[in-house]
Amino acid sequence: MYRSHTCGELRASHINKEVTLAGWVQKSRDKGFVIWVDVRDRYGVTQLIFDEDRTPKELLEKAKTLGREFVIQATGTVIERASKNSKMETGAVEVLVTQLEILNQAKLPPFTIEDETDGGEDIRMKYRYLDIRRNPVKESLIFRHKVAMEVRKYLSDQEFIEVETPYLIKSTPEGARDFVVPSRMNEGQFYALPQSPQTFKQLLMVGGMDKYFQIVKCFRDEDLRADRQPEFTQIDCEMAFVEQDDILNVFEGLTRHLLKEIKDVEVAMFPRMLYDDAMRIYGNDKPDIRFGMEFGELNKVAQHKEFKVFNDAELVVGIAVPGGASYTRKEIDKLIDWVRRPQVGALGMIYVKCNEDGSFKSSVDKFYDQEDLAKWAEITGAKAGDLICVLSGETNKVRAQLSALRMELAERLGLRDPKVFAPLWILDFPLLELDEETGHYHAMHHPFTSPKSGQLELLETAPGEVKANAYDLVLNGNEIGGGSIRIHDKEMQATMLKHLGFTEEDAKAQFGFLMDAFEYGAPPHGGLAFGLDRLVAILGGQETIRDFIAFPKNNSGRDVMIDAPAAIDATQLKELSIKLDMDA
Ligand code: AMO
Repeated sequence: MYRSHTCGELRASHINKEVTLAGWVQKSRDKGFVIWVDVRDRYGVTQLIFDEDRTPKELLEKAKTLGREFVIQATGTVIERASKNSKMETGAVEVLVTQLEILNQAKLPPFTIEDETDGGEDIRMKYRYLDIRRNPVKESLIFRHKVAMEVRKYLSDQEFIEVETPYLIKSTPEGARDFVVPSRMNEGQFYALPQSPQTFKQLLMVGGMDKYFQIVKCFRDEDLRADRQPEFTQIDCEMAFVEQDDILNVFEGLTRHLLKEIKDVEVAMFPRMLYDDAMRIYGNDKPDIRFGMEFGELNKVAQHKEFKVFNDAELVVGIAVPGGASYTRKEIDKLIDWVRRPQVGALGMIYVKCNEDGSFKSSVDKFYDQEDLAKWAEITGAKAGDLICVLSGETNKVRAQLSALRMELAERLGLRDPKVFAPLWILDFPLLELDEETGHYHAMHHPFTSPKSGQLELLETAPGEVKANAYDLVLNGNEIGGGSIRIHDKEMQATMLKHLGFTEEDAKAQFGFLMDAFEYGAPPHGGLAFGLDRLVAILGGQETIRDFIAFPKNNSGRDVMIDAPAAIDATQLKELSIKLDMDA
């Protein structure tokens, strides 16, 4: 038996008991005549004591050789501590050691394994197994486990069945590039790793599974950000014989359950907002509604004067920044510089200070009088003491720019409280999205999403205006899930693919299996997938998903610990019939 107790377990009630602990040396303090050693495992830290009076000399000498992160086994008697540590759960006791086994020595770790470490991100990723010994990382992984368990429990109770689907498949378009795997047995052919199990879960509905879920890895070769990893995990779900409302209700139930069980937060009915409204009010399809600063469109009250910048703009839109009237000229100039950064891309910003005495002072006083500015204040909801920030230009661009400014200001003003949870459904997404580069439309969600009823005709005349039975679940300004009611009719799916630019041949080659299945009695169905990493991170009060993944990739998609991706040797390439021509 390696241990009788864990390092987090011993209390005053264990005094005088003989125990054996095993773990890592967190630190040791050698006063010459007495040595204290903190031993750590997943469950906590316990203090061991060796002293001149009670410890045999040989054992005392052995204790002196212990270095940080040595793996040890110690047997001894639990005794009351002379000076108790109320900050430690085991702080009332210590173990007077009678037997010490060094199970494994350890090199000096490249960073300190403490809650606050001196190690930078890169070094911690290279030695991730050491990083995982640190409480914050360990706690995040345990937290993730707790969320996953609650998900499984809740969905099983609702009669969902977890079914595994294959990883070596054919491309499932979800808007990213595929990771591909060469096939040795089929020369020159490749599998694609699933961007999601989308087509398989639809086939499970045709197979009569009725309610499916899977906590599943997905793979997408796309640019990485704080909330994106090339391999990530979905809680993927699908249901048969459902309408949009059924899906929203079930998964709102799941989310509410998680908020209650994990965070002890009760949230009433989740608000539902149309995509078009979200874009108009927040300039964004994943608005953070923990705070206001809603957009006020000012075209009508700003395009009647000689101010050319506004008169030429498709959209003039502003937000009221609470308390912003007190900003100094320098602070406002900095804000203007911020919106002009290439990442935001605004050409400039007009501002109006709403003074406490009810008057206004703007950067465009030359063009607009107090009456005009009062209207701007009314539309943006600005009160005395606020600052109105106004941007103008092409609608989509300006909305994105003002949305970025809104989020930045909210962050600075401390309005994005991680302890507050504000979920929201966004409904009626456009079916198609114009790719500015190619001039082609592609599916905004994926090609299996059904258009809203009665809108099919619009596909010919105004494809950009067709709305889909597609929805996203947003939590605190992050898209944590998305889904749709699917097409379950072969003809309709074929029409859809035609509009997405697939030739009949291509459509058959890529999605023939799905359309064939639709000919054998496909039930109406729909579903959604949550991003588990994102959901866990946000419930944990953070937005960086890396911290909640045991072995994440860095921003260049590399695993710096195992050094992947890497070249493979010539024999392996030959077996796979792959010829590399790096110069081509
Ligand atoms: P979608 O592409 O919206 O839908 O993905 C569902 C959810 O997965 C999360 N997500 C990611 N998380 C981390 N890293 C990534 N690279 C990443 N990409 C997506 C997001 C997102 O909301 N098959 C459909 C679902 C359906 O229609 O049922 C799908 O995959 O939180």
